Amino acid sequence: MHDATHAAPWSSDLWAAKDKSALYADLAEELAALLAGEPDRTANAANAAAAIYHSLPALNWAGFYFLHGDELVLGPFQGKPACVRIPLGKGVCGTAALERRSVVVADVAAFPGHIACDSASRSELVIPLLDGDRLLGVLDLDSPDLNRFDSDDRVGCEALAAIVVRHLRRSVLS
Ligand code: SME
Repeated sequence: MHDATHAAPWSSDLWAAKDKSALYADLAEELAALLAGEPDRTANAANAAAAIYHSLPALNWAGFYFLHGDELVLGPFQGKPACVRIPLGKGVCGTAALERRSVVVADVAAFPGHIACDSASRSELVIPLLDGDRLLGVLDLDSPDLNRFDSDDRVGCEALAAIVVRHLRRSVLS
């Protein structure tokens, strides 16, 4: 008999069976524990990308771009190799960074200027990494499914991004 309560927290079955916001709360707790006590920016961003990629169902890419001057530069990620530099204002990532707001794209083919790194991507969620007023970069999630991300995903991933920012802050500013 299938018992979702015995599935790993990142199991797709469990995501289908339980309230998404509760699962995001569990994931946030796990992410905070994973990053706790480690000041290295690369290590924390790499572990955060891996945790998110392997926890959320139906993703083909999850990772970070960090702001260097007026460009976003590829950081740690999981998925296929991606474009390295994205000018502010370009693509979904550059738009989220420039406008400092999360951008949910239900169909990337319908987003003018979308940058196709992996042709499998159909929908996308990009969250700016904001330390107060300071933009550090973005968290980018891609899905092979159309309309993969709803407002629960946006809110849940904004909370994950806030945890990452707290742990990156020290090393990014140093
Ligand atoms: N699709 C993004 C580019 C980054 S990749 O998806 C990893 C964009 O339009 O900004």
